[in-house]
Amino acid sequence: MEENKNEPGPSKSQESKPTIEEDNDSDAEKNSTHSSDEEESDPTSGFSMEQIRKWLQEKLHVGSCVQSDSDQRHPLILNEFTMDGVVEYIKEGRAKNIITMAGAGISTSAGIPDFRSPTSGIYANLGKFNLPNPMAIFDIRYFEENPKPFFVLAKELYPKSFNPTPCHYFIKLLHDKGLLLRHYTQNIDTLERVAGLPANKLVEAHGSFHTGTCLKCKKEYTQEWMKTEIFSDKVPQCTSCDGGVVKPNIIFFGENLPGRFFNCVREDFSKCDLLIIMGTSLQVQPFASLVERVSDDCPRVLINRDKAGGGLATLSNILGLGGGGPGLLYDKKGNYRDVFLQGYTDDLSIEIVEKLGWTEDHQKISQVKYEP
Ligand code: OAD
Repeated sequence: MEENKNEPGPSKSQESKPTIEEDNDSDAEKNSTHSSDEEESDPTSGFSMEQIRKWLQEKLHVGSCVQSDSDQRHPLILNEFTMDGVVEYIKEGRAKNIITMAGAGISTSAGIPDFRSPTSGIYANLGKFNLPNPMAIFDIRYFEENPKPFFVLAKELYPKSFNPTPCHYFIKLLHDKGLLLRHYTQNIDTLERVAGLPANKLVEAHGSFHTGTCLKCKKEYTQEWMKTEIFSDKVPQCTSCDGGVVKPNIIFFGENLPGRFFNCVREDFSKCDLLIIMGTSLQVQPFASLVERVSDDCPRVLINRDKAGGGLATLSNILGLGGGGPGLLYDKKGNYRDVFLQGYTDDLSIEIVEKLGWTEDHQKISQVKYEP
């Protein structure tokens, strides 16, 4: 598969937020910079709702699609909307191309905080950096001006040991059983690699700490080199050009996602017959909108401590313009395929493994660690 280069995208703005659901994939990709729904500001105050609708329709080219109610008439895909219903679906051999999607919640039990949990999340603990807003620490424009806060945080959060969780090994087990089409992760901690998931099964949508690149001359650096620099309290600087900053190859807000993300999404999602989403608030685009990319017949299971994904909270959705998708239907009338398993990803994946009769295999692989 040929991979696009990860070119920096246009700076983040109201106009540059389409999802990858648009018809013209290449245009959508050009504009699909990493962005968070929380960052929406209202550029239209002082106007009537009708004027706002019109303005957005023109600017975003959304609002012309009428939401279909076909979901209401769809036959039920699962016998029950519970863990047992999902396990039965897998046991019946109906899930042969599972896609897993993950976020920071699958790594919290490994000692890595998530982003948005109210007291323990990274964004709640950045006061000392005097940032214009918490997400500035992962904003490419802010980083280019002031990279220090990011590297101080990177040192503080650097995992003491790379131990994958039972949930990471559940994903690896799905692969071992020949059922995993692909794992899409927003995490940059490389724990899927350490659990032994092969690179071809993995899409690191927000990049990873595995390598770094000089922003000036594009020379590549290893994780080990960056770690040494970060732990010496330095901003890593390129040794072969005139001191360009070496940025880990993670995707900041305002940057395009890796070409591999778009290529794999195009290849995979229509084939998916079970989507399992774990440990994510589904607040960051374009990742969150992937839940809309599977076929209408594909069951979608959310395993998370808190509710998420129930309708994408984009400005266009709030204004009734559509374009964001209805989201997961687990608590909506007319749900025929979505399941919400509320709780901790480790506990719930261990329970699923047990019900599938895979406990011994799970325990066996959980003792093995691979080089990231
Ligand atoms: P968030 O912090 O937004 O969401 C984590 C979700 O996991 C929340 O819904 C928690 O309730 C849930 N959670 C936490 N621990 C859990 C556990 N042990 N079991 C089950 N659920 C648990 O993290 P992400 O959705 O991953 O981008 O955030 C997406 C992106 O926003 C990140 O990739 C990051 C951030 O800005 C970057 O800039 C690098």
